[in-house]
Amino acid sequence: MPLDLSQLPRTVWFDADAADGAYGVYLIDQTRLPLQGDVLCCRTLEGVETAVKSLALRGAPALGVGAAMAVALYSENESPATATDEWLKDIDRAAGRIGRARPTAVNLAWGAERARAFAHEAAAQGGSLASAKQALVAFVQQMAADDEATNRAIGANGAALIMPGSRVLTHCNAGSLGTAYFGTALGVVYAAFDQGKVEQVWSCETRPLNQGARLTVWELMRAGVPCALIADSMAASVMAQGWVDAVLVGADRICANGDTANKIGTLGLALLAKHYAIPFYVCAPTSTIDRTLADGSAIPIEQRDSRELAGFTASGLITPDDAVSAQAFDALTAQGDREICFKAGHRVSIGRKGGAYSFDGWFQTTPSQVPVYNPAFDVTPANLITSLVTEDGVYRPDRLG
Ligand code: MRU
Repeated sequence: MPLDLSQLPRTVWFDADAADGAYGVYLIDQTRLPLQGDVLCCRTLEGVETAVKSLALRGAPALGVGAAMAVALYSENESPATATDEWLKDIDRAAGRIGRARPTAVNLAWGAERARAFAHEAAAQGGSLASAKQALVAFVQQMAADDEATNRAIGANGAALIMPGSRVLTHCNAGSLGTAYFGTALGVVYAAFDQGKVEQVWSCETRPLNQGARLTVWELMRAGVPCALIADSMAASVMAQGWVDAVLVGADRICANGDTANKIGTLGLALLAKHYAIPFYVCAPTSTIDRTLADGSAIPIEQRDSRELAGFTASGLITPDDAVSAQAFDALTAQGDREICFKAGHRVSIGRKGGAYSFDGWFQTTPSQVPVYNPAFDVTPANLITSLVTEDGVYRPDRLG
């Protein structure tokens, strides 16, 4: 089957509403994929911030583009400034706020800073405030296109490292959904598959939020790339059987010495790959490199809500196939969305959606009040990384400088 990227949606874009002309940051709600793939429209900086914190928008490069767009959104929809110096102060505040929404992926602060710096440069041109604002809009829209071009270059550079007939293993989602389009680690997969070199992809489920199980296999299947899902605990076993020829992962922050933060579980895969002499490639844009940090010990690691580990969320659509069930759901949702709480904190919310009903649930799977440790990322030391694949070329991690 040939590669088919036509079924992959854009992840995040900035556009004016056809009806009222107001700008919005549009994004695919990744908390609901694959069962629902709603497009969210954020009209405020706070809306984008909430999307970032909830992981509706996620993945380091996508966060960078989204952060820049949030700054332009604040400029267009919320800043009351009528003078350029007031506008620049608003821009600085907006960039600082969105840049801090999550701590580990450096691209978030990088994207916010790019928009902030561009606004200052545009203002320095001495034109009108309106022209500076319009230029900022065009700039952040171009960032999404640039991100795709960067990922395609990463894909081409990485594909050269992949041997024909390869079975590759990946973790989390470093795919099109984690970028504006195309992906980093999966960008390499797509480019190599297109060259006939990839036989199959192993996707780790990536507990606790299952980006591998929900997002990576979804996009690989849409693209026509053969894949199989495994639980994180199965990686050692598939490697031991000789079924993995390369490990490809993305990155959230790469330090000056090559130490790399990525989704929790990446470190374990790197240790396994070393043991089984499997090449371990980190695929990321140069915007993920943070030369201000000497090594991985200084990377801030995001700690997330204990409920992510103490239970699971499920969401989807219910389409009743008999009239009695449909009537029951109609009655339940007659006054709008209905939240049903069960014993032990389980809860399901049910709403109407077109001719069907949407459900969103959180189900506790542990004893109540269990202490939980839930870091979202870990740090892989440079000496476990075979190469860093960037848009500029392929580097040994200890030769980044
Ligand atoms: O918490 P997430 O889903 O934002 O974590 C994402 C990852 O760790 C990805 O592997 C990384 O950002 C690369 S995305 C191209």
